[in-house]
Amino acid sequence: MEFQFQFQPLTGYGVAKVLDSGHPNFKKGDLIWGTTGWEEYSVITELEGLFKIQHTDVPLSYYTGILGMPGLSAYVGFYEVCSPKKGEYVFISAASGAVGQLVGQFAKLMGCYVVGSAGSKEKVDLLKRKFGFDDAFNYKEETDLDAALKRYFPEGIDIYFENVGGKMLDAVLLNMKDHGRISVSGLVSQYNLDQPEGVQNLMCLIYKRIHMKGFLSLITMTFIPSSWM
Ligand SMILES: NC(=O)c1ccc[n+]([C@@H]2O[C@H](COP(=O)([O-])OP(=O)(O)OC[C@H]3O[C@@H](n4cnc5c(N)ncnc54)[C@H](OP(=O)(O)O)[C@@H]3O)[C@@H](O)[C@H]2O)c1
Repeated sequence: MEFQFQFQPLTGYGVAKVLDSGHPNFKKGDLIWGTTGWEEYSVITELEGLFKIQHTDVPLSYYTGILGMPGLSAYVGFYEVCSPKKGEYVFISAASGAVGQLVGQFAKLMGCYVVGSAGSKEKVDLLKRKFGFDDAFNYKEETDLDAALKRYFPEGIDIYFENVGGKMLDAVLLNMKDHGRISVSGLVSQYNLDQPEGVQNLMCLIYKRIHMKGFLSLITMTFIPSSWM
């Protein structure tokens, strides 16, 4: 039996320089950020999700971080969805990821108390030592997530920035304060399951009058399967 493979480069967020263009909005020499191929040279025909770089007085790598999709998602998901106030208690899951680490730093700038969860000792150290989180824990070492959250938030959580879903969301719901806010950025623990897990503690949304809202930064939409839209 003969197999035929067709290889295509991965796509992701990147920065690129235009070498040639048939489009009036892009000319040779322009720098762009957005959805690009993980390859040295690309032919880009899909221009949705591609932005011209206007400011080059910052490192170009910022356009894949703070000035790109992670920064946009962290900004909108934290400030617009959560309406944070000084002194509030903030919990972030997947906190060392591209989005989570920025949310944590925004929350510290607001004067919040910030705790993050991550999946290794190195990531936990990074959160506490480099990104200025007040505390952090390795969720893989916790047998009881509810008990862990009670340890880190004895007075409860005002704001939860949700990146993972599943068991973490269930434990967080039990530990939210009245009128807390949950910003649903992602549910990474569920993406590759054949059957997504159910959430048990949704009743907390009612009793605690919690505001829980999803959001989508426009550029992320280029990656969403059409069956989810
Ligand atoms: N709504 C939007 O517009 C928008 C935009 C961008 C991203 N997102 C979503 O936001 C979330 C974070 O994005 P990101 O770019 O920061 O991701 P990232 O940098 O790729 O980090 C993702 C992290 O999630 C953790 N993770 C992976 N599988 C997990 C599992 N089964 N359970 C718990 N944690 C798991 C891993 O960290 P650990 O080792 O610490 O577990 C991983 O490094 C994702 O869900 C993403 O889909 C949404």
